[in-house]
Amino acid sequence: MQAVLALTVRPPRWECPVPFSGENSPLTPSRRTVLASGAALGAAAAVGTALPLTASAAQGAGNPSTGEVFTLGVASGDPDPYSVVLWTRLAPNPLAEDGLGGMRGTVEVEWEIARDERFSRIVRRGRERTDADAGYAVHAEVAGLAPGTEYFYRFRTGRHLSPAGRTRTAPAFGVVGSGLAMSFASCSQYEHGYFTAYHHLAADEPDLVLHLGDYIYEYKADSYVSPTGNVRDHSGPETETLANYRQRHAQYRTDADLQAAHAVAPWLVVPDDHEVDNNWAGDVYEKPEIPQPNFIERRANAFRALYENMPLRRRSKPSGSHMRLYRTVRWGALANFHMLDTRQYRDDQACDDGWKVCADAADPARTLTGDEQEAWLIEQFRRSRARWDVLGQQVFFARRVNASGATSMDSWDGYRGSQERITEGWLDAGVRNPVVLTGDVHTHWANELKANYADPDSEVVGTELVTTSITSGGNGADSDPNDDNNLKLNPHIKFRNNQRGYVRTKITRDEFRADFRVLDKVTEPGHPARTRASFVIADRNPGLTEVTPR
Ligand SMILES: [Fe+2]
Repeated sequence: MQAVLALTVRPPRWECPVPFSGENSPLTPSRRTVLASGAALGAAAAVGTALPLTASAAQGAGNPSTGEVFTLGVASGDPDPYSVVLWTRLAPNPLAEDGLGGMRGTVEVEWEIARDERFSRIVRRGRERTDADAGYAVHAEVAGLAPGTEYFYRFRTGRHLSPAGRTRTAPAFGVVGSGLAMSFASCSQYEHGYFTAYHHLAADEPDLVLHLGDYIYEYKADSYVSPTGNVRDHSGPETETLANYRQRHAQYRTDADLQAAHAVAPWLVVPDDHEVDNNWAGDVYEKPEIPQPNFIERRANAFRALYENMPLRRRSKPSGSHMRLYRTVRWGALANFHMLDTRQYRDDQACDDGWKVCADAADPARTLTGDEQEAWLIEQFRRSRARWDVLGQQVFFARRVNASGATSMDSWDGYRGSQERITEGWLDAGVRNPVVLTGDVHTHWANELKANYADPDSEVVGTELVTTSITSGGNGADSDPNDDNNLKLNPHIKFRNNQRGYVRTKITRDEFRADFRVLDKVTEPGHPARTRASFVIADRNPGLTEVTPR
């Protein structure tokens, strides 16, 4: 029935050069459809086949009856006050082993961006070409927008109309504004559970989403099994070739909950290790005993597919095995988001990685960020006039010792020189409110950052919020803080919980509030989310105050 409606109502709205403004149709996306999932709307809009599709497209995994091409949804990212990146990728057969999603030839894709969800007030339109070389991805950097403004966008090719997405520009430089609803997430192993946490993140309707890495995992099916069992399988082998990484990203992107999370707000993304290879460091692959003579080529393949699948600006487009990912996104005068890359430039993990008591970890010559990124970050601190300076990054920043006195060689503790230089950078620059956001460890944590962890009386200089995983590690279990060695051994750590979820924040001129959201189960779809704990960081007062959860 919807397809019939699309035939009669939708196509005229996209006939060029007739402007769309003022038209409203029964199929125009409401916020509810934008936020719930684009899949149904996209399928409804797919009529006819105006594209050079391959034979497999006719039986496409996305929607065999219609040959729908927008099976991977839409996304936006890296907003500034006047522009934002709009993204989509065409894939009538998302799981095609060649990674090209059932497409061939060169395709022109139109986009439009409007002030309203009914697309009656279009402010910009344009078109991009995409082809196999681009993985059939589309990145439109839309300029000429107004600061601090909500927009809706969608794409069209032939008679295929994409689902609609909602995005937002950053406030003008110097404007503090009324506050920012920002949620952050990490670690979504597709096999370990359903992406229900992404669904709840979308339902909160944040203004901005940060993803801190492990967006995909590289493993072949069932080679990484969670303690509560795998509930679905990766397609394809362990990712090494460009086709493998493209196919894996496409598989993740077919998930309706993940599509909803992308469609609700602009994202700032940084990868961690699993977008390439577990625990890789610079030019060094995971396990020396399992040689990877083509690791640099693998890294280049992973980076290329990462760029193709994320709403990143052109400046992040990889050159071979290098990719510029570190950047600052300013949210007016309220917050700076310094997005870091803690994989590409790091020294190899000390003492063969793992949890170790390791003298080399304290060698000041060792670096997690690389010299160039570190100097850039310190300069960002010096120039900052923001209320909040937020690091969006991957690995645990605070000191964290276990009962044997060992620390994680993969985290900032394994690179103490870097840990100390960033901490000193805040203090020297007089950064007003340093806040570190972290993923990687598949558990929620709230930490106070100290100038000197060896001295119990050392001042608190900043705060770290660590999000648990979306699914990685399976269901987990609620944690009793009175029975948690991590908190006993590390008095600056105030909270830890081993369930899946995400962190929802509200950032205002006076405080930074964090709600640690958890789900009881991810091995069954549809479980509710609740707030396990809430903390507030007050302006000019680093450290955590626990408040009533909401
Ligand atoms: Fe992870």
